[in-house]
Amino acid sequence: MGIFREMTEGLPRQAPGSAGTTLRALGLVRTLPTRPRILDVGCGPGAQTIELARATGGWIVAVDIRQRFLDELTERAEAAGVLTQITTINTSMFDMDFAVESFDLIWSEGAIYIAGFASGLAGWKRFLKPGGWLAVSELTWLVPDPPAEAAEYWARGYPNMGSIERNCQIVLVDVLQETVAQFVVNLVKRPDDCLRELTMLQALGIRIHSFNPR
Ligand SMILES: C[S@@+](CC[C@H](N)C(=O)[O-])C[C@H]1O[C@@H](n2cnc3c(N)ncnc32)[C@H](O)[C@@H]1O
Repeated sequence: MGIFREMTEGLPRQAPGSAGTTLRALGLVRTLPTRPRILDVGCGPGAQTIELARATGGWIVAVDIRQRFLDELTERAEAAGVLTQITTINTSMFDMDFAVESFDLIWSEGAIYIAGFASGLAGWKRFLKPGGWLAVSELTWLVPDPPAEAAEYWARGYPNMGSIERNCQIVLVDVLQETVAQFVVNLVKRPDDCLRELTMLQALGIRIHSFNPR
């Protein structure tokens, strides 16, 4: 875990995604008031928080348990000129005690797996105003028959990982009974992110046996 932390610290995003995918997901949200109130759960260093602040002009509460990420978010938001729109809160997603029906939009990129997809949605929806929207990215099986090695790995790492169909079913039937739209986030990283990770691995003395840039 120490090496993982060192590798990822300083990266602007801590999960798959990009400004493009954040804006694409935001584009699926059909109605938002001017200056919406947004809750960003597991915001990390806040690349998507800043994007949402710019794109909506809204007020964002950004929640994470790592103060270092919240400090990075604050620094970047200031540089981007959107700091006045953002409030950071160092608390766990399990301890959030916001007023019921207080947000127009709940956002979470790469973090709902911590609560579990169904439990996270079920627990967070009370914070949504009537007619509000919830957008998450989630680690998901894309094929029904993944290679055995991958299946074994994720059976240990995230045994409840669902398929797109199962997760849409959870949203539609079990949790929200509302419209659902989804798309697959492109996993290809930006070249400068890859380069940074390789450089950090080398700095940590880890030998890179092969690197296939495809
Ligand atoms: C994979 S990162 C995603 C961060 C960010 N959303 C992004 O896309 O760059 C998951 C984030 O969840 C945060 N986290 C972990 N456990 C948490 C908890 N119990 N409550 C709130 N945040 C948590 C981590 O510190 C980390 O910033």
